[in-house]
Amino acid sequence: RILILDFGSQVTQLIARRLREAGVYCEIWPFTADEARIRDFNPRGIILSGGPASVTEGESPRAPQAVFEMGLPVMGICYGQQAMAHQLGGQVESGHHREFGRAFIEVTAECAITQGLWAKGSREQVWMSHGDRITRLPEGFRVVAASEGAPFALIADDRRHFYGTMFHPEVVHTPHGAALLKNFTNLVCGCHGDWTMGAFRAEAIARIRAQVGEGRVICGLSGGVDSSVAAVLLHEAIGDQLTCIYVDHGLMRAGESEQVVSTFRDRFNIKLVHRDASDLFLAQLAGVTDPEGKRKIIGRLFIEVFEEEQQKIGGADFLAQGTLYPDVIESVSATGGPSVTIKSHHNVGGLPAHMRMKLVEPLRELFKDEVRALGRELGMPEAIIGRHPFPGPGLAIRIPGEVTRERADILRQADTIFLEEIRLAGLYDAIWQAFTVLLPVKSVGVMGDGRTYESVCALRAVTSTDGMTADVYPFDMGFLTRVASRIVNEVRGINRVTYDITSKPPGTIEWE
Ligand code: XMP
Repeated sequence: RILILDFGSQVTQLIARRLREAGVYCEIWPFTADEARIRDFNPRGIILSGGPASVTEGESPRAPQAVFEMGLPVMGICYGQQAMAHQLGGQVESGHHREFGRAFIEVTAECAITQGLWAKGSREQVWMSHGDRITRLPEGFRVVAASEGAPFALIADDRRHFYGTMFHPEVVHTPHGAALLKNFTNLVCGCHGDWTMGAFRAEAIARIRAQVGEGRVICGLSGGVDSSVAAVLLHEAIGDQLTCIYVDHGLMRAGESEQVVSTFRDRFNIKLVHRDASDLFLAQLAGVTDPEGKRKIIGRLFIEVFEEEQQKIGGADFLAQGTLYPDVIESVSATGGPSVTIKSHHNVGGLPAHMRMKLVEPLRELFKDEVRALGRELGMPEAIIGRHPFPGPGLAIRIPGEVTRERADILRQADTIFLEEIRLAGLYDAIWQAFTVLLPVKSVGVMGDGRTYESVCALRAVTSTDGMTADVYPFDMGFLTRVASRIVNEVRGINRVTYDITSKPPGTIEWE
């Protein structure tokens, strides 16, 4: 395993992604991690990430000095390279040659991490993002590659196995970047690249058994990928000590609740409480039009109903959650300031402290695509594993204005048609999320000989890697007009369809 110490770069997570893709287990910790904890973790090598600070400022972050004294290979990237150079006695200066984006480097020598990739004398494309640069190397180091702006673009101390890059090997804009990292982990650190989902599954099951013992566990199912995979994994580990609770707010997509119930009860034999609370949710949502108001009502009711159900089954010792790695990485914030709440997210996770259950979070080391791989490893159906993300408050935030059962039914029909056409066209997996929104606007239309006056429906489809930013999916016009015509013809209550072509930012993916 490899330890990544984070100095707050925007792309630190990508280092972990690249390593894990190559079958090397790694974790990201803040640079402030203490020495004892690092020794305990017992890594085969350490990677120092980039970061926004400047080593030339007195107070700027440093790696724990022990990192360089443990006899382990170390690779510093960008800020990490400068911190390493500075801490080992080299010199770093604020550069007048700032380099951002694509750059070319001249390879002037060979070293372990360029082996089989870059030959002496070649010119290679890399991605740079730095203001400072090293001006004097620490003792023991030599230059392997240089660019115009950075004479020390790649440096190596072969004896101590220390390497440093000015550029970012973890981003795709550095074509051989992933392979350089793999050389570091495999050739230099001696990792075998044999970390697989099969291995993770066995380890995770052993860990769950050790943590839970004879205890009872409840798990809130939402129908989404994360809680579903967590539930199946837990069931494999502890069988009937697990009970799942599915709070059905009546705002799921067509057929979804039935699918969740049948998959978990019939296929996986998991004890499942299915509470249909749609009347309660819809009654409380009546007359509410404010988006945050809707989110708060749904969040509160969800907790109330969940608590009621868990009391009915006599409580439990543990609460299982499908928390993922991006939620638990202790982040090093570049600004230190709190961020603005754009939307109050509702997740199964937000249960009140007074429930006093210990947490079981079997997915907390995994990224989203790794959770999917684990689901496949566990034999879960593709319909659940590959499903587009769906927000906790469900269709309520896709019905701007008041949510009623009737409007939810109309929206579900339109949504089903849109997704059917997307699947037929073979586009489902190329799209991050696709859905319809029922607008609180009526428009005039003509059908046959009659005038219509019905609601407008918007289609939304985006590509994204993490939901933080998103691009509009570029359907061809033929596809869009086919969907529009089907919706207007088949769904009573909609007579006009529009396509939302706003990216995120400035828009958000959901409308509320
Ligand atoms: P926005 O609309 O903020 O959404 O661009 C980003 C991603 O988050 C999903 N989303 C939610 N997921 N609970 C969730 O679990 C929520 O309350 C929630 N609100 C939005 C949204 O579908 C998109 O994938």
